[in-house]
Amino acid sequence: MQRPPRPAAVPPPSRPELPHHVAIIMDGNGRWARRRRLPRIAGHRAGVATIRPVTEECNRLGVHILTLYAFSTENWSRPRSEVAALMRLFSETIDREIDELDAEGIQLRILGRREELGDRLRAKIEQAEARTAHNSGNILNVAINYGGRSEIVDAVRDLAESGADLRSLEEADLSRSLYTAGLPDPDLIVRTAGELRISNFLLWQAAYAELYVTETLWPDFGREDLQNALRAFAERERRFGAIQTPPDPPDEVAPAVSHGG
Ligand code: FPP
Repeated sequence: MQRPPRPAAVPPPSRPELPHHVAIIMDGNGRWARRRRLPRIAGHRAGVATIRPVTEECNRLGVHILTLYAFSTENWSRPRSEVAALMRLFSETIDREIDELDAEGIQLRILGRREELGDRLRAKIEQAEARTAHNSGNILNVAINYGGRSEIVDAVRDLAESGADLRSLEEADLSRSLYTAGLPDPDLIVRTAGELRISNFLLWQAAYAELYVTETLWPDFGREDLQNALRAFAERERRFGAIQTPPDPPDEVAPAVSHGG
């Protein structure tokens, strides 16, 4: 599998209650368009316009790793015209935003099976990644043709091809073979537009992520919505499978049972 460049060593979040890594399932573009009697692609365009303020707000607040789910391996089953329009949108957006991303010190990385994208888009992705590879302020991962299951399958295939002994595979070996190698797992996954699903996003990495779902459609999602998600995250108690209360005291010696002589 072709991978994005090695992630930059970005600073930790500016405050301890903030997540290191926020991932967002950007949903609701179609509904946003339908409510306005617009074609679906108008919703996707409006969705693109949301990305910059959200990225800026993450940077301003001191959250330095953001991952956006833009196109899943399942999205190919949408009408051909919508898929083609989305691919054009990815390409145009890279052209339009790359100078600003670079100037802001953001490293752009694309996660997903890029081998299956068109040659021109793939070349553009590679140029954009190479141009921003030295940036170490913030990381923006964009998942395109991404599926959590296919990522795990690809990682295992790569390990097998490299001659690794799969019988002694450790979790860390697999983590190192994913697109997110070298990054902390997302602490917070936000989903817009209300569905309570993970939709094949970061399946491995989401093991202990906090989930935050809002009814807000992605094109309407703004700085305040992000602040609300971060506030909710700060209030969560994260236990990573442990327990909250102190452990039980050691077993007391059971009192001798009297059998009454
Ligand atoms: C989900 O809304 C959204 C998508 C499948 C595409 C998201 C893509 C963008 C916002 C463009 C991103 C562009 C770049 C350059 C990163 P939906 O169409 O499933 O909405 P619906 O559920 O309301 O129909």
